[in-house]
Amino acid sequence: MSSLLVDDIGELVTNVPTPGGGPLGLRRDVALLVEAGRVVWIGPTRYAPAADRRIDAEGGAVLPGFVDSHAHLVFAGDRAAEFAARMAGEPYTGGGIRTTVGATRAASDDDLRDTVRRLRDEAMRQGTTTMEIKSGYGLTVADEVRSLRIAAEVTAETTFLGAHVVPAEYAGRPDDYVGLVCGPMLTAATPYARWVDVFCERGAFDADHARAILTVGQAAGLGLRLHANQLGPGPGVRLGVELGAASVDHCTHLSDADVDALAGSATADDPTVATLLPGAEFSTRSPYPDARRLLDAGVTVALATDCNPGSSYTSSMPFCVALAVREMRMTPAEAVWAATAGGARALRRTDVGVLRPGARADLVILDAPSHLHLAYRPGVPLIRQVLHNGVPQCRL
Ligand code: NIG
Ligand code: FE
Repeated sequence: MSSLLVDDIGELVTNVPTPGGGPLGLRRDVALLVEAGRVVWIGPTRYAPAADRRIDAEGGAVLPGFVDSHAHLVFAGDRAAEFAARMAGEPYTGGGIRTTVGATRAASDDDLRDTVRRLRDEAMRQGTTTMEIKSGYGLTVADEVRSLRIAAEVTAETTFLGAHVVPAEYAGRPDDYVGLVCGPMLTAATPYARWVDVFCERGAFDADHARAILTVGQAAGLGLRLHANQLGPGPGVRLGVELGAASVDHCTHLSDADVDALAGSATADDPTVATLLPGAEFSTRSPYPDARRLLDAGVTVALATDCNPGSSYTSSMPFCVALAVREMRMTPAEAVWAATAGGARALRRTDVGVLRPGARADLVILDAPSHLHLAYRPGVPLIRQVLHNGVPQCRL
């Protein structure tokens, strides 16, 4: 069995809390041994075992690969003109979703596949090693199923988002569309999905619709996640907590009751994570979610890209980390944790987002001595190497 040693690691982010290492479990001057796609040993460089191959981290920081727990990669076309109009003062309403639905329905499987792989590769070059991918731009049984089938070719973390918006052909008949989503669409989508999600927002789906869809999804064996409280206050966050969702995402407009509900779940065995998506606020020029309020209340916070052609066309987790620190008053350590371990919690995964013996050998080597540089040097390509399942992804 071939082994790979990463040595001369200046700073290792393990996310295994230690007395001297804080919540990131920082260790210095260590080496890490990989076998069969897993971490098998971490220790001082001078005790490093012999290995078949070696990567010299040259004193750089090493951290778990980013876990991007919220992305919409299955689509066709782009909405650059909508972005330009927003930057000239137009508000974001989510209405552009239907534009992408039209383009996606008209695209071939190969076109959709190319886009998914291109964006997945783009994300990987920026350090993302686990990525959730949603459907939601098909909104017919056949188009939702093919979206999930194509997503499942590149990730195990697939999410059925048939309830993204009510498509034009169901205008004025939302109950009928929800019936389709809860019935034939869910049945056809379930073999390709791990999760079910609903855009619970004024103009999309209300609490009754969201509850109906999530309840039948759960009965079909899917885990729950929710787009909630993005564009205004609403019932989504509390509904997600009540139903035991793994994550409620966006969380931009929260009441005290929403924060209390999330904080109350934080001590449960399976807490509901608040996943913040600052790329969306950046690209829609909206106020950022109040991350400090959530963290200070004890809520588990994740960061993700929301990569999609409308509200957040970025695949860059380092960009989201920098935004979270600069604009949302998260400390660099909180932001790095949220983009790695936080994302893993939002996907209820224990094998990623952490570096310890037994964990998946998904890691990032930085061209910088510390995780601080991810926020300190925004926009700079600091990712020197990425290991996914122990396999180097970048040509050095
Ligand atoms: O998470 N909010 C709903 N869905 C996406 C936006 C999709 C779009 O504008 O195309 C989001 O921001
Ligand atoms: Fe989204």
